[in-house]
Amino acid sequence: MSDTVSRRNFMKAAGATAGVAIATGYSPFSYAQNEKVRVGCIGTGGQGSYHVRDGLLGCPDVDIVAVCDVYRPHQENGFKLAWLSNAGILLEAGDTGLTAAQQERLDRAVQPARYFDYREMLAKEQLDAVVIATPLHTHYQMIMDALSSGCHVFSEKTMCYEIDQARDVVKKSHETGKFVQVGHQRRYNPLYNRAVNLAWNEGVLGRVNHIDCQWHRNNDWRRPLPDRRLSPQEAKFIRDLEKHLNWRLYNESSRGLMTELATHQLDIASWFLDAMPKRVYGYGGLDYWRDGREVDDHVNVIYEYEITPESRGYYAINARNDQQDKLRINEPYKVCVVYSSITANAKKGCSELIQGDEGSFELTEDGGYFFREPTSKVKWASSSSAQAASQQNATVITSGGTLQLSNKAQQQGDPIVVDNTKSIDQLQFQAFAYYIRNGGAPKSNVMVGLRSTILGLAGYIAMAERREVEIDPAWYTFDFPTPDPSVVS
Ligand SMILES: NC(=O)c1ccc[n+]([C@@H]2O[C@H](COP(=O)([O-])OP(=O)(O)OC[C@H]3O[C@@H](n4cnc5c(N)ncnc54)[C@H](O)[C@@H]3O)[C@@H](O)[C@H]2O)c1
Repeated sequence: MSDTVSRRNFMKAAGATAGVAIATGYSPFSYAQNEKVRVGCIGTGGQGSYHVRDGLLGCPDVDIVAVCDVYRPHQENGFKLAWLSNAGILLEAGDTGLTAAQQERLDRAVQPARYFDYREMLAKEQLDAVVIATPLHTHYQMIMDALSSGCHVFSEKTMCYEIDQARDVVKKSHETGKFVQVGHQRRYNPLYNRAVNLAWNEGVLGRVNHIDCQWHRNNDWRRPLPDRRLSPQEAKFIRDLEKHLNWRLYNESSRGLMTELATHQLDIASWFLDAMPKRVYGYGGLDYWRDGREVDDHVNVIYEYEITPESRGYYAINARNDQQDKLRINEPYKVCVVYSSITANAKKGCSELIQGDEGSFELTEDGGYFFREPTSKVKWASSSSAQAASQQNATVITSGGTLQLSNKAQQQGDPIVVDNTKSIDQLQFQAFAYYIRNGGAPKSNVMVGLRSTILGLAGYIAMAERREVEIDPAWYTFDFPTPDPSVVS
């Protein structure tokens, strides 16, 4: 399967889109070849090729020994990026070619084999692990086949298209002793880890009593159809190129916004609360785009959690007025997680607001803020401006002759300071390589994958069937030990 690519052909192909820069911070040849982890990549479209040129490039102890994609342009691109990644070379737009030293490294690096059929790849290559970045409906069979062939698995989210499939994956992972890591990359983001730590261990938010998150965009989410015919080899796997490229928009291959966007953020909510919801209800529809797609273009769901003292997200409170029933205020309490995703207004963007009685965190993949409640007594290493804003918000105002406290929390948040200089994709793949070598369960483990599959699909069912969906604990309970889905570092 592995064609030899001459230097001239390689440069012609690579030079068209890329330039050259050496990834900093490691020597790509500091490990002996036979010590390297052998990885095969299945699906090198948008996200798969990103992992190859960023996450896996940041893993000097990994060789991508094979790439598989049924669509030749993506397979070719994945092949070139993987070979460069093995050589520790990062190409960037605008560069025209490799230096002689880089070319030498490339010549010495493992040249990946190329496949259309992932089963053939699993059978022929001696792989330690696979990276799956294909459409949702294909994940299940690929994960099961990879585990059966003795591989550890990195699978993109959402882990599975059906809840029963996700349960099968948990069982298979247990039986084979191979782990499944799921691409909820926020689990590796220092910001999210710090925020969960601050909430659980320092009580900075007080009692989290509401979580509000959304992913709002203003585009059609479509991939343009190229003007090219499929080769006979591609046509064996691809029946309809429009559905193949725009798989997110069709029910047979995706559950739309719920599985493509929501699961990332619902996973964060469940992580903070260290719990699963009891039920969900919601409304969605296809009301704006109406362009032949099948999935909803706006979704709105509410998940109801009950937080008990067993949960790391539980927080006992003191009475705030004389009327509060002191015997009951710390009984299990309800928290609602409200989620929406829309596709024709981007004002609110993508963020999660974790709301406690002492303060809130507003989190995004690019940064996060703490907002103090006016009544807050928490200690926070805050700037003087934040203190001042907090005091200002707490001033007494009059309204309709009644004295009351302004109900506004601090309006300008304090940044949550973390070292965010590292690529999150590299962090998640360095963890992947670490667990392949050392064993154990990764942070974004198979139970995280199962739980977020349940969250996404239960919400989807609630909207599709216009009913409240009860989330049965039996869906995420097993009669064997399973990895902790709420690890924080
Ligand atoms: N974690 C994140 O932030 C994030 C971001 C984007 C996408 N994703 C996930 O990554 C996955 C892929 O999304 P994408 O945007 O890269 O899609 P994409 O369409 O760009 O890429 C998917 C690739 O899989 C290939 N493919 C399809 N069926 C295959 C098969 N049977 N064998 C081999 N290759 C096959 C396609 O040809 C294509 O190249 C999805 O699960 C998606 O949810 C995650």
